[in-house]
Amino acid sequence: MQTRKISQIIEPQYAMEGAGVLLQRSIAPRATNEFDPFLLFDHFAFNNPKEGPILGFPTHPHRGIETVTYILDGSVNHRDSLGNSGLIGPGDVQWMTSGRGILHEEMPRRGPSGNIYGFQLWVNLPSHLKMSKPRYQEVKASTIPVYEKDGLKIRVVAGVVDNVSGPVTEIAASPLYLDVQLDPNHEWIQPVKRGHTTLAYVFEGEGVFSDETVSAVRMLKFEDGDQIHIKTENNPVRFMLIAGAPFKEPIAPYGPFVMNTMQEIQQTLQDLRNGTFIQND
Ligand code: CO
Repeated sequence: MQTRKISQIIEPQYAMEGAGVLLQRSIAPRATNEFDPFLLFDHFAFNNPKEGPILGFPTHPHRGIETVTYILDGSVNHRDSLGNSGLIGPGDVQWMTSGRGILHEEMPRRGPSGNIYGFQLWVNLPSHLKMSKPRYQEVKASTIPVYEKDGLKIRVVAGVVDNVSGPVTEIAASPLYLDVQLDPNHEWIQPVKRGHTTLAYVFEGEGVFSDETVSAVRMLKFEDGDQIHIKTENNPVRFMLIAGAPFKEPIAPYGPFVMNTMQEIQQTLQDLRNGTFIQND
């Protein structure tokens, strides 16, 4: 069994998105596709109640991708062109497969603590699913299994830990998406399929990944191998472990769309202009 070493440590950069939402971005869609099948990872954290109103993400389109919203504090009010609406609350996950197209708005709201805290991951779709029918998997906090063992606590959203499977299934990238907490002076080994792109977003505390100590907040990318090995010393650590099968296709990212060619992007813009972007069948 080969333990994966860290190949890259990324410091998240501040970015302004939507109607003026300040967030920390560690990966963004690029034609180089170096995190294939993952395209974007944003971390939003508002903890100053004196901050202005949260303007959120007014109606915008997506095509060719999946957006995964995971809320830890506060909530996001969501509404879309297919008639879906609802609140993504603390501990909930929304795994949205845009396929050929949705229009939605995403409006963060403060919880009783005054905080808003969460992540959005974008996962690519392979060419044969980019124009598929849109699909949602709404997962309430209470239905996400928690794996607990000797200083370890994992919320299993997608993939398998030991004999515990996450509720999000039938995703093209066969992802692993875990929220992992490890107490001080403990260790954990998790098998990850060889060839799958593997990332860890360290957002609290400090841990030793393979043989390198990493403190929050950092995105890590791992080399290939069969497993990841994490241990803690005096501090606890909390991180998102994200892995998935790369599609190895060319990509053409353009704002909220990720297609395979620029012609498909032109077609997308034309569909928006012609009013043929949304098909409710
Ligand atoms: Co969106």
